Amino acid sequence: MKMWDGRFAGAADKLADDFNGSLDFDKKLYKYDIAGSVAHATMLGERGIIDKADADAIVKSLGGILDDIESGRLVPANAEDIHMFVEEVLTERIGAAGKKLHTARSRNDQVALDLRMYLRDAIDGIDGLLRALLIALCDIAVKHTDTLIPAFTHMQKAQPTTLAHHLMAYAEMFSRDRERLADCRKRVNVMPLGACAATGTAYPIDRARVAELLGFDKITANSLDAVSDRDFAVEFLSACALIMTHLSRINEEIVYWASDEFGYVTLSDAFSTGSSIMPQKKNPDISELIRGKAGRCYGNLVTLLTVMKGLPLAYNKDMQEDKEAVFDSETTVRASLTVFTAMLPTLTFNADKLFSAARGGYTAATDCADYLVKKGAAFREAHKIVGGLVRYCVEKNAALDGLTLDDYKKFSPLFDADILNAVRAQNVVAARLTPGGASPESVSEEIRAMREKLKK
Ligand code: ARG
Repeated sequence: MKMWDGRFAGAADKLADDFNGSLDFDKKLYKYDIAGSVAHATMLGERGIIDKADADAIVKSLGGILDDIESGRLVPANAEDIHMFVEEVLTERIGAAGKKLHTARSRNDQVALDLRMYLRDAIDGIDGLLRALLIALCDIAVKHTDTLIPAFTHMQKAQPTTLAHHLMAYAEMFSRDRERLADCRKRVNVMPLGACAATGTAYPIDRARVAELLGFDKITANSLDAVSDRDFAVEFLSACALIMTHLSRINEEIVYWASDEFGYVTLSDAFSTGSSIMPQKKNPDISELIRGKAGRCYGNLVTLLTVMKGLPLAYNKDMQEDKEAVFDSETTVRASLTVFTAMLPTLTFNADKLFSAARGGYTAATDCADYLVKKGAAFREAHKIVGGLVRYCVEKNAALDGLTLDDYKKFSPLFDADILNAVRAQNVVAARLTPGGASPESVSEEIRAMREKLKK
């Protein structure tokens, strides 16, 4: 028996019925579906669209259904979707009054409402996890404003910087992710109920009241848009995809930093795995998995964009495909953020390795050229002179901070004894005093500002 079977003479084919149903996954929406129905029934009672007594009975029974699902006494099953399930149980429990709940409502606006309510919580949850990650990043960074590491361009050593500066670059990404989610939440937090099937309703409903009861900022402005819009879900999936991009990038760095070749970081046993054949192995599986899971989140985004691209107004059943993408990205992002935040403080950074890497590779060459500029050379000229100096070092197998003043003098009379200090990696970093730069002062200020933001 279907609640909509009045028009049908025959029963649904079992295959069609199974294919059509969504209860297996949309049961996740039960508490939002019930909360939405409570608000809807309350408003219907207040407006006299249904009897106050019926509204009260509906609200009371929905509370019981919520408790029963929550405690496991009632398990969603044998219904087309979560909306039908709740309504069927309600009608079983209170009879005639239950049949009035769906007055001035359609599953089209109902499912849009449920998904929006679900996403509000999903966003808040992910935001909390991002915040925890940012706190962990700042806590590590603050200890490493003097830990030198090389900055790379083209995966070639470029200039020395600090571990704090490097980690805070990721903190900026995750901080933007929070802003993106907060912005997405504004579009999520708009109340679609009252759009009904497509064109609104002739019942004298009070949409603003429902919005108020459910904590929405405002109501949707066009009923056709309200039931066919999934932009807000696309935005959520896009924000999730970008969070995973950022997680993937930092974990890619951890993977190669942990390699024997780099040796910048040692993974804790608690967050690494062994090989079933090679006894010596200690693998960065957690980082690799996070990197890999970025792929499925991109997939979810592309899934929903593709589902939506050809849909005419208004609701189409294609849109039922939105939920698994949303649920999967939420679960994936949550799990990845959680495990990564736990793993981060267990990493051991190998300061000696990092220092010799930062020092090597002629990373002070830019500053050597800048030194000549300060002494009166034009930058292009200085660039050429230092290029020759680096070639000399390559031939001699020497480092810029290993040459003597006599060596330097061979390349330019502008070099004085203070060049030997100017090319030391610590001094190179210390001189980067611009806001956002690598110096301990600049990065400390960045950390301070980030922590200030995290208080809010
Ligand atoms: N299970 C459906 C979905 O997730 C609910 C809306 C169904 N509406 C309809 N007219 N068939 O989209």
